[in-house]
Amino acid sequence: MDQTLQIGDTSFHVRTAGEGSPLVLVHGFPLDHHMYDAVFEPLAEQHQVIAIDLRGFGQSDGYREIVPMEMFADDIAAILDAMEINEQVNFAGLSMGGYIGWQMWQRHRDRLSRLILLDTRAIADDEVQSRARRMAAEAVLSAGMEDVPVNMLPKLLAPSTMSDKPDVVTAMTEMILRQDPRGVAAAQRGMAQRPNVESWLPEITIPTLVISGEHDVISTPQEMQGFAAQIPGAQFVEIPDAGHMVPMENPAAMCEAVLPFCRDLE
Ligand code: MLT
Repeated sequence: MDQTLQIGDTSFHVRTAGEGSPLVLVHGFPLDHHMYDAVFEPLAEQHQVIAIDLRGFGQSDGYREIVPMEMFADDIAAILDAMEINEQVNFAGLSMGGYIGWQMWQRHRDRLSRLILLDTRAIADDEVQSRARRMAAEAVLSAGMEDVPVNMLPKLLAPSTMSDKPDVVTAMTEMILRQDPRGVAAAQRGMAQRPNVESWLPEITIPTLVISGEHDVISTPQEMQGFAAQIPGAQFVEIPDAGHMVPMENPAAMCEAVLPFCRDLE
């Protein structure tokens, strides 16, 4: 079911299906909830799946000059309130969705039962990276999204996906092109100032699953395994035949990791 939730001045688009313990899916940048299309139905066989379009992405509005990761997390808590989901949720976030996951833990931990971190990082940007983000924000505001896919796709997708899975390449390209530059620029500026959360990791007391694509060059398996080791009891899974976009590049393997993780602890 597709829903529009009006919260304050913002209308949020949310897709839901299934029954069982809630599983919130939070997309990466510069994407929307459709990046979870290939895993949505399989996960909904065992969960109430809630796939959100973040503020400024997909069919959600609520544009700001800058959206810090904290604001995205507060939006998600407000969406759960509006949906009257009082039970704790399994939270899965990819990349920027993972940065938001850290903030969910920091600000709304009473709402979480489990944390699933896909292709994401615990460290902040260095100065060069945050300057590049601020420039990229200006670039999309003046020139639009047209050049973004060709620049980003080789970093987001494994070489084998680029050559052998034209449907994934097309879906990614179209998803990036339809994002609103105002939402993209605001999130870039927000990511540029996100904190280093390494000191939070030993304090995470809920079951945590860390998933990395074997060929991820943005958040490498080595880096992810390193931060997973700092979270007490966290499981680490490396997914073959995938880069940064595990749910699109190897959806079956993602479901094979996520479903038992959620089920085993119920
Ligand atoms: C994402 O997939 O969300 C981005 O790679 C995040 C980032 O730019 O750091």
